[in-house]
Amino acid sequence: MKTTTKTLRNLKGQRPIVTLTAYDLITAQLAEAAGVDVILVGDSMGNTVLGFENTVPVTMDMMLHHTAAVARAKPQAMILADVPFGVAGRCVDYVTEMCTRLLQQGGAEAVKIEGGYRRAETAAAVIRAGVPVMGHIGLKPQDVLQLGGYKKFGKTSSERERLLQDARAWEDAGAFALLMEMVEPEVAREITEAVSIPTIGIGAGPHCDGQVLVISDVLGLNAGKYPGFVKKYAELREVAVKALTEYATDVREKKFP
Ligand code: KIV
Repeated sequence: MKTTTKTLRNLKGQRPIVTLTAYDLITAQLAEAAGVDVILVGDSMGNTVLGFENTVPVTMDMMLHHTAAVARAKPQAMILADVPFGVAGRCVDYVTEMCTRLLQQGGAEAVKIEGGYRRAETAAAVIRAGVPVMGHIGLKPQDVLQLGGYKKFGKTSSERERLLQDARAWEDAGAFALLMEMVEPEVAREITEAVSIPTIGIGAGPHCDGQVLVISDVLGLNAGKYPGFVKKYAELREVAVKALTEYATDVREKKFP
């Protein structure tokens, strides 16, 4: 059965929601075969598949291209697309138009917007226009240039207050769910209990209503370092390199074909 915003709302308090990123047909098919609830076409594609330093260079055109590839997998999982850097801070009409494009041209069924209570105000108009929106608070990777790096949020009482304010603002704006990235577990718990919408955590501890991870981290496909909160469920990079090395050897030694 197709996962909808209603499915996710009903899962709060029932069982954890499983979210995984995917960026193309093949990764979407893998995520779907594993039975995840939500496929996030994350702008993490900037780092993971496009070779950028961070998510800032990811554009609307890139998001549309990759979301459409994921949509061609026709998953039962919800297709959630990130609103990329530089969009959500613009005027309401522009943000609404870009979110609408992610649905109409990309085939997304919902969008995710990074930001605090100010972005939630903008998102209220997008939601009124009929686009389901997930808010993204805590570490917002699109702020990396302003922050000068990545960090955990909710360590101080003012950060905790601010996170609670942001979470309530997203709920009031009509967001169907809230993603919390790199939030202190106890603060993530407090927010999860304070809002009626489901919370999805990444690096935010076990008390959220669901979890999200990046597919290449879960599969162990990356050559570089992995964030501390990641659990690798496979070492596919090793498996792939071994297979490809055997192929190269076979061709050179005329064993294949
Ligand atoms: O872009 C992304 O993949 C994300 C996750 C890290 C939550 O936003």
